[in-house]
Amino acid sequence: MERLDKLLSSTGRWSRREAKELLRQGRVTVEGRAVLRGEEKVPEGAAVLVDGAPLTLERMVYLMLHKPAGVLSATKDRRQKTVLDLLPDHLKRVGLFPVGRLDKDTEGLLLLTNDGELAHRLLSPRKHVDKAYYARLDGPVGEEDIAAFAGGMVLEDGTRCLPAGLEPVGEDGCLVTLREGKFHQVKRMLAARGRMVRYLKRLSMGPLRLDEALKPGQWRPLNGDEMEQLGIPGEKGE
Ligand code: URA
Repeated sequence: MERLDKLLSSTGRWSRREAKELLRQGRVTVEGRAVLRGEEKVPEGAAVLVDGAPLTLERMVYLMLHKPAGVLSATKDRRQKTVLDLLPDHLKRVGLFPVGRLDKDTEGLLLLTNDGELAHRLLSPRKHVDKAYYARLDGPVGEEDIAAFAGGMVLEDGTRCLPAGLEPVGEDGCLVTLREGKFHQVKRMLAARGRMVRYLKRLSMGPLRLDEALKPGQWRPLNGDEMEQLGIPGEKGE
């Protein structure tokens, strides 16, 4: 049994206050009966409709976050701030998790969802989903570094990397494109070439590009085009 207002806001579509308003307007039915009070308890599996549409269809949430530096890519931590702490309360209760991890000091694109199947598709090592990063370094990269990345590097500890893209940007920057996501991979590959990463930002993951209108710490639901590119059927999202 769960309170109806809590159940509505747990979908991520409405805050608790908005859910109360929906109820007040008589737009919510439970087993065919309009319910006006948010405190009313709903048995598990009961047919809850909002404006005639079943609630269950709206449970998947997909958010694009511009992760700021200094925040963990985790759902909870006893001491440190996590990416979920950047969301409003009603979105903290819908089971969101980050799709893959960025280091604490890395900024940029992070997808937050409660769609485990999509996460699996994007993260599975066999799918080779491209991830692009901008890195600022302690010096320039050259032709030999580009060739080493393209040839598939072996890191100091013996880890084998798939061929990766490396493109110089300006005096001390570069674009790195990976088809996998090993621990600290960008930093370790560049370290193996004698370069230190001073700043790192993820720009894209598969078809998803960081919306430059989002400042670090800001987020928005994925739009229809992005959902389609990711192969998410129907009109879902926040
Ligand atoms: N590679 C890294 O080294 N760090 C990240 O956060 C992501 C990729």
